[in-house]
Order: sequence, then C-alpha cells, then structure tokens
Amino acid sequence: MAVTQIAIELGTSNTTIFLSGNGIVLSEPSVVAYSDKFLRAAGQRAKEMLGRAPEKTNVVCPISEGVIADAGAAAMMLSDFLARVVDRRGFPGRVRALLAVPCGLTEEERRDFEGVLLQCGIGEVVLVEKAICAAHGMGLPLMSPKGCFVADIGGGTADIAVISLSGIVEGCSICLGTQNMDRAVSRFILEKYNLEIGPLSTERLRESIGSLYENDVSTLTVNGTNNSDKSPNSVTVESRAVSRSVAPYYRRIAEAAESVINRCPPEICAQVLRSGLHVCGGGALITGLEDYIRSVLKLPAAVFADAQYAVISGAGKLLGDRKLLSDILNQN
Ligand SMILES: Nc1ncnc2c1ncn2[C@@H]1O[C@H](COP(=O)(O)OP(=O)(O)O)[C@@H](O)[C@H]1O
Ligand SMILES: [Mg+2]
Repeated sequence: MAVTQIAIELGTSNTTIFLSGNGIVLSEPSVVAYSDKFLRAAGQRAKEMLGRAPEKTNVVCPISEGVIADAGAAAMMLSDFLARVVDRRGFPGRVRALLAVPCGLTEEERRDFEGVLLQCGIGEVVLVEKAICAAHGMGLPLMSPKGCFVADIGGGTADIAVISLSGIVEGCSICLGTQNMDRAVSRFILEKYNLEIGPLSTERLRESIGSLYENDVSTLTVNGTNNSDKSPNSVTVESRAVSRSVAPYYRRIAEAAESVINRCPPEICAQVLRSGLHVCGGGALITGLEDYIRSVLKLPAAVFADAQYAVISGAGKLLGDRKLLSDILNQN
C-alpha cells in the first residue's frame, strides 16, 4: 500500500503544504469562510471576504498566535487544502504527515494540532519545531555541534532558537508577529487621519512601504472610510509612519533573540555570535531588517531569500531523511 508523505505548516497567516516527490504544492492564507457549517471558501478567496462577507457567513482565521483557535474551522480549511493536493482515494490512514509547530507547546496544544489532522483523515503525524524546520530549509547544518541561530517571524509568532546536534539548545516562541504590527498600523492611521482602513489595505501598506530605515521616504495612498461620518476617503501615508508603528515589535523580537543567546552555554554562544542570526518567515521581508539586527544585536544577520518558504521546505526535506528525522524526534 503506497504511503503519501506530506509536510504541513499551519501558520497564523498562511498554510503551506509540501508533497513528497512534488515539493511545495500549496500556499494559501489561513482563512476559511463558512455558513451553516458548510464551507464557502478557504484560502485566498476567504481572505478577500474578510470584513465584506454577508451576515450569515463566518470568515474565520482558525490559527491564532501560532496555535489552533478554532479546531472545527481549522479542520474544514485544511480538508479543503488537502483535497486540492492529495489524491483522496488514498484516505484514510495512508497519509503520513510532518507538521511544523511553534516550540514550547503545551500537551493540550499538541493534541489540538493532532486532532485537527485526524479530523482531516491523517492518522499518522509527527510534530517538529518550526525553528528546526527553518534552519534545515535555510540550508544550515542541523547536526553540527557548532550550532546555528535562527528566527522565523510569522503572522502571530516569532520562533527563535539556537540549534545544535539536531536539537534546540535554547529557544522560545513569542506571541508576536506581522498581525500585531498590522493592528498597530491601522490604529495609527485611525488616530492620525481619523481614517478606518481594512486588513488588506493595512497589510499592503506594511508590505509596500514598511521599513526599518528611519530615513525611508516612500509613500503609499490607501483608501478607507472616515471614522466620523463613514464617508469614503483616502490618505497618502509615509513610510516613516508605518516604521514607527512596526519598529517596537522588531525591537521586542531582537530582545527575545538576545535573551535566547544569553541563556546559551558559552561555547555555543561564541560560535553563533560569529555566524550570526538567520532570519526567515514573511515578517523577515521588511526593508532593512538585516541592518537593523546588526545595529541592535551587534552580530551578523542574513534574511533568507525565500523567507516565507523556509519552514515548509525544511519540513519537506526532512520527509526524505528518516535518519535525521529520527535524531530530531529523539532529541526534542
Ligand atoms: N514582500 C513582503 N514584504 C513584507 N512582508 C511580507 C512580504 N511577503 C509576505 N509578507 C508578510 O508575511 C506575513 C506572513 O508570514 P508567514 O511566514 O507566512 O506567516 P505564518 O507562517 O505565521 O503564517 C504576512 O503578514 C505578509 O504581510
Ligand atoms: Mg510560518
């Protein structure tokens, strides 16, 4: 009986799936729309319904701060994604999954993830920390005793870890990501311009003109509604305004990285200070992050080119390396 092997990242913002032998086959926003328990849309189409759906349609982000917030909705969403990429005739019991998860999950949170996969017909699942998947995806040597230092900045969490000999030496997952930054940006626009903007406009603003360079002069015009009379209006926002809103979050991520380093044994600490911090996740794509880390943490920094896919490609590569995977599962 053929077994299909898949790797999944159920991220707060995006879900990605890697199918063994095929590579990354799906990347969709972690959003689902349903009414009367019936699926209306999942992924990009559901995301476009955020804030616009008819009254009877629920548009839900089932993953919050890195963990399952709504198991029923998560299962509905993931089932739809899986149906697009896996031959359903193979179900159940013939799909083996590796799920990338934040580090430091409670037993209950682990069971929630397993439960969602089980509801989708996947009975065999192993959980591997995102930081480990990210390091592998970025091509860093997991087995080496020298250690490597990684940060994955996602939608609702930042996972930071020092990894050596295929295990996490020190690490943390902090509940802070691009979604927190977006809330700060839209709050700022509301306070400064009395303009209410939707989540898609806020995200576009941060993605296009968000920067950690204080002298960045780019601008973007966004549409919204006047908060007093609800009339349509638009404003031109400067990069500096977005930067001021997001910078405190990058500062907190840098502080968390510093405390991970400070908890490391001195031998590894010296090594990783030399090789620096390797950053991935969509939140790493803000302009100026490498320079920002260099100046705040005083160590080398490299943002991975394919930042949003480091975790899933690392998780996918692990599917093909039973020896490394069993070492990792025995270490953690
Ligand atoms: N080019 C880009 N510039 C800035 N941010 C980006 C870019 N591409 C994607 N992102 C951000 O990446 C975030 C999602 O990151 P991701 O790693 O997929 O999160 P998660 O794994 O937690 O779901 C989104 O908030 C999106 O705005
Ligand atoms: Mg992620």
